[in-house]
Amino acid sequence: MENNSVVKIDNLVKRFPVGGDFFTALKNVNLNLAKGEFSGLVGPSGSGKTTLLNIIGGLDSPSEGHVSVLGMALNNTSHGERARLRRKSMGFIFQSYNLLPVYSVFENVELPLILNKVNRTERKKRVTQAIEWVGLSDKIDSRPAQLSGGECQRTAIARAIVHQPELILADEPTANLDAENSHHIMKIMVGLNKELSTSFIFATHDEKIMAYLRRIIHLDDGQITEDEQIDNPKFGQ
Ligand SMILES: Nc1ncnc2c1ncn2[C@@H]1O[C@H](COP(=O)(O)OP(=O)(O)O)[C@@H](O)[C@H]1O
Ligand SMILES: [Mg+2]
Repeated sequence: MENNSVVKIDNLVKRFPVGGDFFTALKNVNLNLAKGEFSGLVGPSGSGKTTLLNIIGGLDSPSEGHVSVLGMALNNTSHGERARLRRKSMGFIFQSYNLLPVYSVFENVELPLILNKVNRTERKKRVTQAIEWVGLSDKIDSRPAQLSGGECQRTAIARAIVHQPELILADEPTANLDAENSHHIMKIMVGLNKELSTSFIFATHDEKIMAYLRRIIHLDDGQITEDEQIDNPKFGQ
């Protein structure tokens, strides 16, 4: 297997049980993503974006087919092994930020490093760096309730990147943000992709996000209908 493969999906089907029957949310999906891709799953609400992202993140399991992420065949792994892969190598960004309200910005961003048993000195260094990266150094001791939506999402980005994961999954990250904040967080993520070759998969129907992508995977009714590579000038040379 090529070592720069980040995601490899073959003949994926996902069915959900619904009232004694099944609803098929993903219908024979095939997808390959290489290291460093800045890609998005784009499609209308209900097209299967979140379901596909959750399966890639090991948060949900396929009904049929084969899914391999960062060299690990998810079909044959235990719950614990998938959790370890997520903790070490993935970052998650959600529409709703998912910050812990009683923790400060620093403490929220520190969590993945605590889970990865990084020592205190190293944690302080990396958390400070990640917060600086997203431009929130002046809010490092604030609690989420004292932040704007854009600042909350920047905290969530810092938390997603602090352990320098290979893959970041972002589900509708700009859904609760205004245009200015949306552009701001997308620029931060483009910077990360350029600097660290972090791979990204967004799920979105936001045109503002689409303008930043280098690959747009169109989903409709649980199927990939188009897969576009984009020569995006935002990435320069
Ligand atoms: N746990 C579930 N049980 C039943 N149906 C589900 C479940 N999760 C998602 N679905 C259905 O699968 C389809 C795709 O959902 P989703 O992946 O959330 O779409 P999107 O993120 O593109 O809006 C929708 O019709 C949704 O209702
Ligand atoms: Mg969704």
